[in-house]
Amino acid sequence: MIYPVVAYGHPVLKKVAKEIDKDYPDLQKVIADMFETMYEAVGVGLAAPQVNLSIRLIVIDADPYKTDYPEAEGFKKVLINPVMLSEEGDEWEFNEACLSVPGIAEFVMRKPKITVKYMDENFVEHTEVFDGMIARIIQHEHDHLEGILFVERVSNLKKLLLKNKLGDIAKGETNASYKMIFAPVKRKRKK
Ligand code: NI
Repeated sequence: MIYPVVAYGHPVLKKVAKEIDKDYPDLQKVIADMFETMYEAVGVGLAAPQVNLSIRLIVIDADPYKTDYPEAEGFKKVLINPVMLSEEGDEWEFNEACLSVPGIAEFVMRKPKITVKYMDENFVEHTEVFDGMIARIIQHEHDHLEGILFVERVSNLKKLLLKNKLGDIAKGETNASYKMIFAPVKRKRKK
């Protein structure tokens, strides 16, 4: 099943997502559906809040980046309850995008090496070091679990320049090729 992708402006994207345990209902189906949704939308990572589930679950398939980033080849992973233990090295910039913010790409600075503790889809615990593009994708998706979007990690000037475009997305004005859901319309209270 393909989920609609939650668009910028929806409150679920601002929430800190909750940890889950192995009894989370239909977990394997949720994971499979998140992969299906991500592939349909041509993304390389998807966090559960982006499908309106406020839980700490990420799916990644970085393979499309393999030409420029060898570490991405065949990299497919599920991370449950990931904990960022460390982020190291000199920050590097990359033009990031996000399925929840269609039509916008901006340079974001991130550290190149991370150590993450997480559970896989079978609830086996791992502590692993990731580099380069893999680190960046995990950092971007982990941000989603903290209620942070990449457009909040750009300069104040860039934020100002993006304001109208982001407002349009929140109002449902996008040309995304996949189905999206938007924030409930705010109505002004009558005096
Ligand atoms: Ni994203």
